[in-house]
Amino acid sequence: VNKQQSISSEQIKIRHPEFQLNETVLREFRDREPFKAHFFAAMSLMFPTGEKFFIDSVRYYRDRITDPELSQAVSRFCGQEGIHTREHLKYNELLKSFRIEPERVYRRLEKKVAFYNKMQSEKTQLAVVLAFEHFTAILADILLRRPEILDGADPKLAALWRWHSIEELEHKAVAFDVYRSIGGGYIRRLFAMLFITLQFAIDLNVNLLYLLRRDRLLLRPSVFFEGIRFLFFRPGILIRLLPEYLKYFAPGFHPWKKNNFTLVEKWENGIRQLASPAGR
Ligand SMILES: [Fe+2]
Ligand SMILES: [Fe+2]
Repeated sequence: VNKQQSISSEQIKIRHPEFQLNETVLREFRDREPFKAHFFAAMSLMFPTGEKFFIDSVRYYRDRITDPELSQAVSRFCGQEGIHTREHLKYNELLKSFRIEPERVYRRLEKKVAFYNKMQSEKTQLAVVLAFEHFTAILADILLRRPEILDGADPKLAALWRWHSIEELEHKAVAFDVYRSIGGGYIRRLFAMLFITLQFAIDLNVNLLYLLRRDRLLLRPSVFFEGIRFLFFRPGILIRLLPEYLKYFAPGFHPWKKNNFTLVEKWENGIRQLASPAGR
């Protein structure tokens, strides 16, 4: 299990799913489990800006990659992230029914990215991407390993999150391998992770509070207790991600030291059934 076992670039697949989400799907999830629904929505709101930053940062080094396998993996990484954004933009539009304005969130996050990009070198920006990718890989692993987390969600919405999770696992080492190939070091990687842990916590909370406030749920005790349970007890997302999070700080860390590709194989068929291809 501890042996490093990467996957080939062919295993990073570009899919063209069509989830046919609608307001009812999101509303039903919110009525059943408001905290959880808005927790997922808060993440969804981060993706369009985040994924554009990931693509730009990795693409910057494209010409310096000599290994054809890695360069193919980079193309596929960019392809996957681009399609994630496309689907999450649709998802986020539907959040308008909870009186929120996705464009406002994008503007705030874009300003922040631009601000930090001015101060940080391209190498540091790439180190930030790896750290983010580690977060998404941990969350993806939890989501696929514990399918009951999406129990209250419509199958279409669950399919979207499982599809995104599958692809995050498939490409989880791409940015990392690019970083290594351009001589990125341990200290920068470590500080980027500390930086991103703070930023991720801030942005997720800002989005979550915005959603809860606009949806007039902020002061409802039941929502508060649902949140405590979800984050700390059942399934206890925050507690569960901690051990994997800490592994990142080991000097010899590599994403594929945790081989969770079986989760991809396990869930892939479910996605194929639930998401009808767009016919491309
Ligand atoms: Fe993504
Ligand atoms: Fe990703």
